[in-house]
Amino acid sequence: MSTSRSSQAPPALDVEAVRKDFPIFETGVAYLDSANTAQRPRQVVQAMVEYFTTYNANILRAAYGLSETATARFEAAREKVRAFLNAGSTREIVFTRGTTESINLVAYAWGRQHVRTGDLLVCTVMEHHSNLVPWQILAGERGARLEFVDIDDHGRLRQDQFQRLLEQGPRLVAFNQVSNTLGTVNPYREMTAAAKAAGATVLIDGAQGAPHLGFDVREVGCDFYAFSGHKMCGPTGIGVLWGRRELLESMPPFLSGGEMIKAVFLDHTDYADLPHKFEAGTQAIAEAIGLGAAIDYLEGIGLDAIRAHEAEITEYAYEALSEIEGLRIFGPPPGPDRLGVLSFDLEGVHPHDVATILDRHGVCVRSGHNCTMPLLQRLDVPATTRASSYLYTTRDEIDRLVAALHDVKRIFTR
Ligand SMILES: Cc1ncc(COP(=O)(O)O)c(C=O)c1O
Repeated sequence: MSTSRSSQAPPALDVEAVRKDFPIFETGVAYLDSANTAQRPRQVVQAMVEYFTTYNANILRAAYGLSETATARFEAAREKVRAFLNAGSTREIVFTRGTTESINLVAYAWGRQHVRTGDLLVCTVMEHHSNLVPWQILAGERGARLEFVDIDDHGRLRQDQFQRLLEQGPRLVAFNQVSNTLGTVNPYREMTAAAKAAGATVLIDGAQGAPHLGFDVREVGCDFYAFSGHKMCGPTGIGVLWGRRELLESMPPFLSGGEMIKAVFLDHTDYADLPHKFEAGTQAIAEAIGLGAAIDYLEGIGLDAIRAHEAEITEYAYEALSEIEGLRIFGPPPGPDRLGVLSFDLEGVHPHDVATILDRHGVCVRSGHNCTMPLLQRLDVPATTRASSYLYTTRDEIDRLVAALHDVKRIFTR
């Protein structure tokens, strides 16, 4: 689905009705770790159970009915992803295990073909390790230079620095749509346009963007877009790489073996057409079908309604947390360029202690480096506590977080 810029207010989201779709909330847990992995609604679980119980078979390989049904549902899920991203063709939709594998695919298959000694690769200091380590390895192997765009005091990318790096004609620009630690929504349309004008190939890590904002690959005009199913109410073990068709066509395979071939001879192999050239081995069939169901689910509620609900919760949480003495929130204030990821530091208490005490109150948050160690080095903190919201998050859960944080303070100031 494309990010709508309609001026009309989206229909309000009925959060209590939404929560009824998620059996896990019957446990009473306050789940504030959706940036890590989202919860799954019954609809997704049921789609997977239906596969396992009524048409379980491998895809693409057999001539019997069960396999044909499984293949058709698997390919129907691919079509849902295509429509979600407004891609021109399902040939551009490659199923992977997640964002990490998608980015590695590009770093290996595209990178080793296109990156040469002395080339410049541009990344940012706010990247998840998944969008940083593969480029480090590639740069090291090819003798390329890897440079990083810094952030300003509000956790926004320094566009002046980005422009200066673009003037050096980078081969690749890779950045996230939304930061998983700061919640910053990067100006990805403008950054893509500038990077393309500078002649760069552009990869956007949509792990935190796709679940909340969606993405329109044709409108944005990047070359690669990666995201994970499990952060958008789908299962783990399934993700997507969208790539511009001509790029994918020209790239060599990443993984090789069964399913990615047209014909194999002892001395050479003819590869399968897209997207199967990049889908070696038995695929995560139930998971792809589950991802398709997750897209149906989110689109049924409406990404605009989800975004509006999250904006409201983020503002509420930001204000409530700001009132706690000694608590410092990282990233921009609530607004159009900030999503519901709230990483913070509570003076004098290690985030692991914070999270452990919150857990005693039934509140789940992430503590640690959020797979963004260079960013935390830049912020000069060893770790953060991170509370993140999604379509099912309530004000009551935020109130529980705040009450539990007061308990943390009470315990540590005794
Ligand atoms: C911004 C970002 N990129 C990449 C990833 C990696 O996603 P996965 O572990 O699903 O491959 C994450 C996961 O937290 C993320 O938040």
